[in-house]
Amino acid sequence: MQHFTAHLHDEAGTAALGVSLARALSPGLVIYLHGDLGAGKTALTRAMLHAAGHVGHVRSPTYTLAEPYQIVLAGVPTEVVHFDLYRMISDDEFIEAGFREYFNAHTICIVEWPEKAQALLPRPDINIVLEVAGDGRDVELQALSQQGLQCLARLNFAPNL
Ligand SMILES: Nc1ncnc2c1ncn2[C@@H]1O[C@H](COP(=O)(O)OP(=O)(O)OP(=O)(O)O)[C@@H](O)[C@H]1O
Ligand SMILES: [Mg+2]
Repeated sequence: MQHFTAHLHDEAGTAALGVSLARALSPGLVIYLHGDLGAGKTALTRAMLHAAGHVGHVRSPTYTLAEPYQIVLAGVPTEVVHFDLYRMISDDEFIEAGFREYFNAHTICIVEWPEKAQALLPRPDINIVLEVAGDGRDVELQALSQQGLQCLARLNFAPNL
């Protein structure tokens, strides 16, 4: 499956997608999250991290730009890094913070506002686009690599219609 769309009626719908995504993750995935302020990028990431076993808060890394989490994926300890690059000012900030090292074969990177670091980021395996639609959200997931395709193929998500 290369492409998947759904309507998420409410925050519970976003959370349900997060649970499905958590089950479909694999090490090294790079996921870009697109959408306006308040579209639900952090809400989706939070649900995914909690479903993946993270206990505790998931806040947007507004000023630190990145927050690492440890989860266990099929018995293997795996790092997930949640980026929010909205407030990134310069490419140097990203480079000097050592963020490039997070993009490796083992770490899962989830990036809000990838547009802010376009020249620095590797291409994503999956693009997720969230958009306000009525009282809910429309979501589109696009696979852009073999690994992304495999992830979406594992995605078992049936939103309440
Ligand atoms: N499917 C949905 N329907 C309606 N409201 C939703 C849905 N999913 C999430 N929300 C709400 O939308 C808001 C999303 O906020 P969130 O912080 O996740 O946005 P964001 O895309 O990360 O924004 P920012 O770019 O500022 O980081 C929350 O108030 C959440 O409750
Ligand atoms: Mg956010």
